[in-house]
Amino acid sequence: MTEVVIERAEIKDMDILHKIEIESFPENAFPKSFLKYLIVQHNSIFLKAKICDEIVGFVAGLLQDLYSISRIYTLDVKPEFRRKGIASKLLQTLEKEFKKRGAALSTLEVEVDNTAALNLYQKFGYKIGRVLKDYYGKNRNGFEMTKNLV
Ligand SMILES: CC(C)(COP(=O)(O)OP(=O)(O)OC[C@H]1O[C@@H](n2cnc3c(N)ncnc32)[C@H](O)[C@@H]1OP(=O)(O)O)[C@@H](O)C(=O)NCCC(=O)NCCS
Repeated sequence: MTEVVIERAEIKDMDILHKIEIESFPENAFPKSFLKYLIVQHNSIFLKAKICDEIVGFVAGLLQDLYSISRIYTLDVKPEFRRKGIASKLLQTLEKEFKKRGAALSTLEVEVDNTAALNLYQKFGYKIGRVLKDYYGKNRNGFEMTKNLV
């Protein structure tokens, strides 16, 4: 496959990033204002994946609790670019950045029937923790997942 380049996302990418977010989560997409918030925070790491200058995916996380804990908020790949290792590359790069900034733990939430995401995170060492009842709406539970980074 053509090379995937991972770079910091910028405010000017926002329209494209938000479109990918809506394609990825038709019912539960974060609003553009929240993606903007994630991009500008001093404790955020917001990365985009590009192929031949086209943005094909992104991941966003925040360092919390004096940077000891990192939380992944969203990880999205354009449908036509899935199963090519792009999310894996975004996740690995994000974790590297989290670690560089001192995080010992990575956490995230995922809907219980999101097999693709559950498999992805388990492949990279995330463990299922608490069940988060109705986290994504009525009768739509989530799992908390965590991974030790050290
Ligand atoms: C989940 C998602 C980010 C995966 O992106 P991707 O670029 O296709 O993932 P990768 O190609 O890096 O796949 C890595 C691993 O994830 C798992 N995986 C990915 N897609 C899968 C699918 N459709 N079914 C089952 N497992 C899947 C596999 O374990 C895969 O490893 P393998 O290829 O060796 O089998 C993508 O499907 C997506 O954007 N989904 C909608 C948004 C979403 O649910 N994000 C996660 C939020 S918590």
